[in-house]
Order: sequence, then structure tokens, then C-alpha cells
Amino acid sequence: MKKVFINGYGSIGSRITSFLKDDPEITVIGIGKYSPDEKVNVAISRGLNVYVPEKKVNDFSDYKISGSIESALDKCDLVIDASPGGHGYKNKKILYEPKNIPAIYQGGESTIGSESVSDLLFNSRANYDLASGKKHVMQGSCNVTGMGRILEPLREKFGDELIRFDVTLIRRWADIEQTEKNVIDTIEMSEKPHHGDDVKLYFGKDAPLYVRAIKVPTRQMHLHIMDIRFKRIAPKPSEIHDIFTNEFGVATLWTAKGTQDIRNCAQNMGFSFTDTNMIHIHANMTTSIGDTVQMMYSDDQTGVVIPENHMLMQAMLFDKSYTDAFTHTESIFHMTEKKQILEKYFAKNN
Ligand SMILES: NC(=O)c1ccc[n+]([C@@H]2O[C@H](COP(=O)([O-])OP(=O)(O)OC[C@H]3O[C@@H](n4cnc5c(N)ncnc54)[C@H](OP(=O)(O)O)[C@@H]3O)[C@@H](O)[C@H]2O)c1
Repeated sequence: MKKVFINGYGSIGSRITSFLKDDPEITVIGIGKYSPDEKVNVAISRGLNVYVPEKKVNDFSDYKISGSIESALDKCDLVIDASPGGHGYKNKKILYEPKNIPAIYQGGESTIGSESVSDLLFNSRANYDLASGKKHVMQGSCNVTGMGRILEPLREKFGDELIRFDVTLIRRWADIEQTEKNVIDTIEMSEKPHHGDDVKLYFGKDAPLYVRAIKVPTRQMHLHIMDIRFKRIAPKPSEIHDIFTNEFGVATLWTAKGTQDIRNCAQNMGFSFTDTNMIHIHANMTTSIGDTVQMMYSDDQTGVVIPENHMLMQAMLFDKSYTDAFTHTESIFHMTEKKQILEKYFAKNN
């Protein structure tokens, strides 16, 4: 049994913690909280030990905390950092490296530049084996993970026949539970989005991938619009969809009018956190024109990276093979069953 501490209990940390509690190979030591608010008692009511920064212990005198984050780290085999973007790097320098504790970081960090947390950006589909034996690894962000789920199978199937990928990321403004964040009525342009460079860390630095991004006022997932150019007449939409029939974490849907339909379905079907944990090809939008395939898929922003963290944790903690890790992740996340439910619910109308 390995001991894991989750530092940060927001959108990502609370989800990771919830799934890890169902993992018989893991003991969750506890979670790290930084603000003395009602979420402390929510975590305690879920049976979790709550730890806080040593210098803030007095701020939490109204709560039944279990001790300092510093002391919790001394007890764990690995920490999953789920702090706001940029804080993971600081935590690495101040806490994890001095204590020699392996750590997983989230997509708000960087693997490039002076504040890089790792030299590896993880995507289970592309570079699972590279994570074994590593001490510090960053899980790609939701958009970066989602793009990998589409690009990697396309490259495997079509290889040299591909000329370029042009992707427009339409990003959600906030998460559903981030009620403190206002969703502003504007379409915001993102200058120099990091996502393309991040994908190239596992897809190859010279990959002909061109990414633009905008942010729109919704809490309901990201949508990626992708044009794929071929050296020849492009494959038919059905040939593209066939590639993803057995692909992990990719559902092919025909009748979802928008992203909220999918979230509602997840809620009605009782999926944890109303997450699907996957991306969804909107098959009715796939077209093949001359040398180009146009496609769209939505990306469950909060859910998609959670099984990925679980895969990564197994590579780092147990040195498992991809197949063993995949089987275990499947037993906890039931991705195949969720995919079938979604594909049946949004099946093609005859
Ligand atoms: N949300 C998404 O859809 C999504 C998807 C993929 C990746 N990510 C990435 O995941 C990371 C976490 O994002 P999130 O959306 O979960 O953020 P979030 O909801 O804002 O939660 C952040 C959590 O970190 C805690 N925290 C504050 N300072 C900290 C510190 N110095 N060290 C550790 N934890 C600290 C906060 O504690 P208090 O509440 O007690 O202040 C809060 O619980 C980011 O890197 C983000 O880019 C997010």
C-alpha cells in the first residue's frame, strides 16, 4: 500500500482525492488546504484528514485539522500537487525537493523555461513508459490531453500522409463549481497560447501543428475545431470515426446539440462529479472536403485529466506496465462503460 498526499483541494484535487479513496492500492494521507473556509469541513465530512501550511495553523483554529502540510509530506510516498497554476513550481522548490518526495504537477505549470517543474509532460497515450522512475512529472492540461487523444491515433493510422493540423481551441471560462468566478460576457482572445508547444513536447517539436485559442463565456467544457490536411484526397468521415471505436477516453456522439447536453447526460446517468472523464467527437460535424478533414470534439475540462493522473501515479509509484496500469485505472474509472452509455444516448438517428 502506497501513501499519497493531495496538495490542493479545488476542482482537480477534490476529484483526484475522491477516486484515489476507491483505489485499494493507495492510502490517502490527506489533503492540503490553504484557506480556512467551508471546504475544510466538507473534506472532513468526506473522511479526509486536512493539513494546512505550518505558518497558517492558527488561522484554522475553528476547524479540526490534522496537522501541517509539512508533517503530512513526511509520511507520504508521493504527492499530487493540485495547486493553482505556478504554485506547483514554488511547492517543488520549497517543499518537495528539500524533502526528496516524488511529485505530480498539473497543467497550469510549465515544462519549459526557468520555472519548469519537470522535463516530462505526460500523456498516457503518447509517453506512458517515460514516466517510470521519474521523480517530478507534469500532467498535461485538459486541452493538451484532449488534443493528444485525437492526434496520436491519427498519426498512427495515417503517418506520412498527414500534412498539417490546424486547431482552434474554444475554451470554457470557468468550472461549474467555481461559483466565485464570474463568467464575463465577452469572447477573449488568447495571445500565444501554450497548448500547441505543450503538445509538441510529446508529439514532436517539428510536428505541423498550429493552434489558436479563444475563451468564451461558458462553464460547459472546451470545444476544439480541428482541420487535418492530407497529401491526398482526405479519408471519409466514417474512416476517421472508425479509428476511435476502441480508443480509450474518446466517445463518438451524433446527436448532442451542445456541450451542456453531454454534461446533463453525465448528471442523469450518475457519473461522479457529472464528469465524463473523456473527449467527445461530434461526429455529425465531421466533413471531408478535398484534402481536408474538418472535425470538432468537446473536452471535459475537469474530468479528462483525472484518469491520466491515476495512470501517471501508477507509473511513478509502482513502475507498472502500461497494460497493468490501464487495467487498474479502468477498474476505478469505468471508462469503457461510460463511453458506451454516452454513445448509446447520443447515437445516430436512422
Ligand atoms: N479546472 C480545470 O478544468 C483544470 C483542468 C486541467 C488542469 N487544471 C490545472 O490543475 C491545477 C489546479 O486547478 P484547479 O482548477 O483545481 O484550481 P482551483 O479549483 O482553484 O483549486 C486550487 C486549490 O489549490 C489550493 N492552493 C492554494 N494555494 C496553494 C499552494 N500554494 N499549494 C497547494 N495548493 C494550494 C487552494 O486551496 P484553498 O481553496 O484552501 O485556498 C485550492 O484548493 C492548475 O494547474 C490548473 O491549471 C485545471
